Amino acid sequence: MELYSLLVCPRCRGTTFETDNAACASCGLDLHRKRGYLDLIDVATIGEPTPSNTEQRFMESDLVAHAYDRVWRPTFVRMLAGKGAGGAVGGIAGEMFIHKHSLGLDDREGPWLDLSCGPGAFTRALGAAAPGAVVVGLDISRAMLDVAAKRCGAYPNVALVRADAHSLPFRDHSFGGVNNAGALHAYDDPEQVFREVLRILRPGGIFVGSTFAEAPSLFGKLAARAAGIRRFSPSELRSWLQRIGFCDYEDVRMGGALVFRARRP
Ligand SMILES: C[S@@+](CC[C@H](N)C(=O)[O-])C[C@H]1O[C@@H](n2cnc3c(N)ncnc32)[C@H](O)[C@@H]1O
Repeated sequence: MELYSLLVCPRCRGTTFETDNAACASCGLDLHRKRGYLDLIDVATIGEPTPSNTEQRFMESDLVAHAYDRVWRPTFVRMLAGKGAGGAVGGIAGEMFIHKHSLGLDDREGPWLDLSCGPGAFTRALGAAAPGAVVVGLDISRAMLDVAAKRCGAYPNVALVRADAHSLPFRDHSFGGVNNAGALHAYDDPEQVFREVLRILRPGGIFVGSTFAEAPSLFGKLAARAAGIRRFSPSELRSWLQRIGFCDYEDVRMGGALVFRARRP
């Protein structure tokens, strides 16, 4: 399956593309992949998105993007969610294990979306675990996508896209599952992102995410408050996702972090 068969044009919402010219057949928007990813932020119409919080300013930095997996992520997960968030299940490898199995890669068909993929650690894991399916890594940060493009090069089934999670450039019911690791706290309007995820999932499609729940220590609480990190309680997430239309909500706590799973009916 081609990436184009999943897309809607971010400018006119058209769904026909001249794949030879890499352009929208309706409005002519240029859809050439540059720097290893397809930039679907229509800067000419809506302007360049500006980071709305301090964390996102760091996510736009080349230095942070390069050091993210080794330094930034483990440090902040430990600081904000305590040792249990990584140690008990082997750090990011354990987290990936939970995400991959919660998505049900072996039993379901893709395509799979790694929403807010950062430098692509989860995207690569999905690409390797589902070699016969298209895996799309999406992020809003150019710096993160530049690193992801270098690191995902060995996975021919992985495509990278720059877009805003609040307005996904994909057709209704186009994905078998959406993975969303550690990014819920970063969104201005999580409800809008949930609605978009529901829209693009096929009936029966799975949404798996991880985020910060209540901090296990006073230090974690203070650090989250200082960094302006929003936390989500399991009961809040359950009722939120159910109200929007998801079913079969489940979650598992890992220290002060939370992995949740829900299904589109
Ligand atoms: C903390 S990182 C998580 C990266 C990766 N999923 C992981 O778990 O290692 C959060 C990511 O969300 C992205 N992000 C923030 N706001 C976004 C938005 N509105 N649309 C898409 N991505 C966004 C950031 O650029 C950043 O790469």
